[in-house]
Amino acid sequence: MLQCQGCHLEDGSGSPGSVPSFRDAVGRYLEVPGGRAFLVGVPGASTSPLDDAALAAVLNWIVEAFGPAEIAAEFAPFSAEEVARHRRPPLTDVDAVRAELLRRLDARGAAGQGAAAPAAWSPERVRSRPGSAKPSHSGGR
Ligand code: HEC
Repeated sequence: MLQCQGCHLEDGSGSPGSVPSFRDAVGRYLEVPGGRAFLVGVPGASTSPLDDAALAAVLNWIVEAFGPAEIAAEFAPFSAEEVARHRRPPLTDVDAVRAELLRRLDARGAAGQGAAAPAAWSPERVRSRPGSAKPSHSGGR
């Protein structure tokens, strides 16, 4: 954990505008294709000094600790082998990949699939800290 909490903080809240929050957000990526690889590939994870098994354990812990709970409950844990596969090369176009994943999540939400994506969810909410975002029925979508 010490390898990550310098930036992401012990409670996973990150730092608004620079380090994204994990809380109720990070598990969402698992709902769409490419999400698992993204979580492993982000530079903070993929280039950390942790070995593959330790990184898998940390990512599993992050999903379980920060949820959302309904996703964490069904989550198939990362293995060292899967981490090794997605880790190299590290992701360089993080913003583009994240934007694409969020688009896929949005599309899912719009199609009304998946009870796990509540109507109040939006990319803006994922990027900001919980608490700073209004519980947003006001987003207009
Ligand atoms: C030096 C600071 C720093 C450290 C240390 C760090 N991260 Fe990160 N992390 C970031 C930043 C900044 C981002 C956003 C990346 C971007 O947008 O380019 C991020 C993004 C992420 C994301 C994607 C979250 C999202 O919503 O996009 C995951 C997952 C992640 N980090 C996991 C980890 C793990 C696991 C560790 C420890 C092994 C770790 N990070 C260590 C700064 C850090």
